[in-house]
Amino acid sequence: MRISSRIENMLGGGSDGWDVFYRARAMRARGEPVIELTIGEHDIRTDPSILAAMDRSARGGHTGYAAVPGTEALRAAIADRVTRRTGLATAPENVLVTPGGQAALFAAHMVTCNPGDRALFVDPYYATYPGTIRAAGAVPVPVATRSSHAFQPTPEALEDAAHGGAASLLVNTPNNPTGVVYDAPTLEAIAAVAKRHDLWLISDEVYDTQVWDGRHVSPRTLPGMAERTLVIGSMSKSHAMTGSRIGWIVGPVEVIDHLINLATVTTYGVPGFIQDAATFALGAGAALEDKVAAPFRRRRALALRILGNHPVVRLLPPGGAMYVMLDIRATGMSGEAFANSLLDAERIAVMPGESFGRAAAGHVRVAMTVDDASFADALTRLAAHAERLAASAGDTAGSRGPAAGAPGG
Ligand SMILES: Cc1ncc(COP(=O)(O)O)c(C=O)c1O
Repeated sequence: MRISSRIENMLGGGSDGWDVFYRARAMRARGEPVIELTIGEHDIRTDPSILAAMDRSARGGHTGYAAVPGTEALRAAIADRVTRRTGLATAPENVLVTPGGQAALFAAHMVTCNPGDRALFVDPYYATYPGTIRAAGAVPVPVATRSSHAFQPTPEALEDAAHGGAASLLVNTPNNPTGVVYDAPTLEAIAAVAKRHDLWLISDEVYDTQVWDGRHVSPRTLPGMAERTLVIGSMSKSHAMTGSRIGWIVGPVEVIDHLINLATVTTYGVPGFIQDAATFALGAGAALEDKVAAPFRRRRALALRILGNHPVVRLLPPGGAMYVMLDIRATGMSGEAFANSLLDAERIAVMPGESFGRAAAGHVRVAMTVDDASFADALTRLAAHAERLAASAGDTAGSRGPAAGAPGG
């Protein structure tokens, strides 16, 4: 069978580090009581008020083709939200409604990259990034970050990567998988490199409502950046609407016009009743967003209490998003080996850092997606497991330092 090389090579080959996830799912299917802290899916459902709006719309007849760029009402609601939250005047014409953030990421690379262009992205990264870039015909180029620098990209690393020429730079704050929120110097370095090397900035802000200290800053608002930034938004995380597939791109009007042409030949828009539900949800304002974020805020506080000063497990600064990242190198294990041993010994499933790129080797990502009591119990048992491993590594190696050959940072 002849398959295009673009599709055949899209995933890059090699192990994707998701074995732990599939093993946990299989154990659960066999009836074993596994605590799953793997994927970014809320433990609550879409709010009933949003579902009622969806139902009203569908029964009211909004089940035919919907406007490809998005309904007037939803584009206006998104533009209002962006204007209000960022202080940067944004019009409905700056908005394209998409079936989720993932489709927006693909479209953003399609509109900014020619085939063969280098497209930069920060490592560790959301697992679909390299494949999405390849699917758009571009060449993914990671910008390495270091755990010791809280996985914030440095000006030097950004400059190094951009030096060889590139069409775009993809950043994500609050970050999946690290839970880190980029600070002002990082955002300024990102803007500076984008301007100096004439890059499009693709700013993935799907976790913008999950910032635990201070507030979210969109790099689009920095001087000279609005004309070169495409913001990826989504209601998956902010409104627990993962299955509704609703998101957007905000950017310059001329780019949005090209993206509308792309949508016409790909998605042909988003179902009208989903868009009406989204318009309703955005109309409910910050109160609803805070309600959806509240469980993660509580669990982040639990993580700080349980792991804040742990001698073996190092908790990275959990600034935002629904994850915490743990440095477990003091156990002498890779993230993958640790995650597998935790699943076998404690029936707790976490994601190996290696699933999210080389920079996160020796770490595990913990999704805060189970009830508070189970979450606290899982972290306590994870920490005890790590202590036992570190003690036995110390017995055999005569040291409790990081594993030999563990990646830098
Ligand atoms: C950083 C990041 N970007 C984009 C997405 C895509 O989300 P969706 O397509 O559901 O909007 C996710 C989902 O987990 C994510 O973590």
